[in-house]
Amino acid sequence: RADLKAILLEINKIAAQYFYVQLKSSKGEAGLSYLKRRELSDDTIKAFGLGYSNKYSDDLYRYLKERGYKDEMIAKAGLISIDERHGAHDKFWNRVMFPIMDVNSRVIGFGGRVMGDAKPKYLNSPETLIFDKSRNLYGLNRARSTRKPYFLLCEGYMDVISLHQAGFTNAVASLGTALTPGHASLIKRYVKEVYLTYDSDEAGTKAALRAIPILKDVGITAKIIRMEPYKDPDEFIKNLGAEAFEERIGRARNGFMFSLEVLERDYDMHSPEGKTDFMREVARRLGEFEEEIERNNYIEAVAQAYHVGYEELRKLVVKTAVQQG
Ligand code: CTP
Ligand code: MN
Ligand code: MN
Ligand code: MN
Ligand code: MN
Repeated sequence: RADLKAILLEINKIAAQYFYVQLKSSKGEAGLSYLKRRELSDDTIKAFGLGYSNKYSDDLYRYLKERGYKDEMIAKAGLISIDERHGAHDKFWNRVMFPIMDVNSRVIGFGGRVMGDAKPKYLNSPETLIFDKSRNLYGLNRARSTRKPYFLLCEGYMDVISLHQAGFTNAVASLGTALTPGHASLIKRYVKEVYLTYDSDEAGTKAALRAIPILKDVGITAKIIRMEPYKDPDEFIKNLGAEAFEERIGRARNGFMFSLEVLERDYDMHSPEGKTDFMREVARRLGEFEEEIERNNYIEAVAQAYHVGYEELRKLVVKTAVQQG
């Protein structure tokens, strides 16, 4: 089994080198110009080992076969699919390739992006003996050596890469999956604070709300950075630059207060009834803080933000907690 893992790592490493060489060859022109259009420098492309999988071909499969790897191994590495009628085929073709590395910079899988609007936009390696999506974070191999006391946690490959290119070398992403407790404990080994920089759409907002308690459970404080009016960190940086992003970091909102802002959408905050119902729900949530000091600090913050009296709010929290038993 240890041997098998070593072989799968070797195959993925060779594949990454192969895709990189293709990107820089005449076959890879479309891929390289795509990455240039997305404003990635040669240094960035090299640092992240980006590549290209050739058009309509089984080039990688043949290349690996020539080097002596058996179909079964190449399939276990997640790089080919085998079907009865047509035999073995490259899984990735005509895509720009993002090698996914573990914390020790070993290639464990790939994401491949189409260069146009075809679907799926990204195709990812399947989970294999060496690739467990819920225990790896994209960019961690580089972010681990950051001197910052926090990580920027974002959604995608391009977000991480753009942020690193702009000097934010503490960016990581959980790829195409929701943040798991496994991700959270992995992060905890390096930092105690996370700034969530998810996409501004509904999906990103929901994902951020779900990530906050998962991080809190392992003792990580979450803050939220919003990317409006842009879609995600990649677009934000490209339009407004690194300084504006730095400014957003400075104005990050605390996770609990952010969750209340999202909650406001469910209430008519302009009517007394609506605002009262809202405050009842807020009081219920405040009651969930077990530590008294923390709870009181939040009661104070909420009282200020929503222009209600600290004492009244504290009483409501106590009353709600009693009612709930
Ligand atoms: N993702 C995926 N499969 C998809 C769509 C998304 O695995 N079909 C994952 C990728 O890791 C992607 C991340 O989810 O980077 C975020 O998705 P999305 O916001 O849709 O894409 P972007 O990263 O913004 O992609 P791009 O900027 O290249 O359009
Ligand atoms: Mn998204
Ligand atoms: Mn996005
Ligand atoms: Mn994007
Ligand atoms: Mn106000």
